[in-house]
Amino acid sequence: MYVCICNALRDKELAAAAGDNVRSVAEVFRRCSARPKCGKCLPDVAEMIEAARAKTAPPALAAE
Ligand code: FES
Repeated sequence: MYVCICNALRDKELAAAAGDNVRSVAEVFRRCSARPKCGKCLPDVAEMIEAARAKTAPPALAAE
């Protein structure tokens, strides 16, 4: 499914780029060799970063 229509980026591509301790939406776009344009996808990309953090956080920190 396309998440970023402006850059034709799919959910799987963005989710993969959102892992490995990514700190910002801009970093996800850099990893995809793209730049945000309209900004409508930015909340979804931010959620992907949070989901990746939740998966990699130690259990004690994930509960906070
Ligand atoms: S949909 Fe991603 S920048 Fe427009």
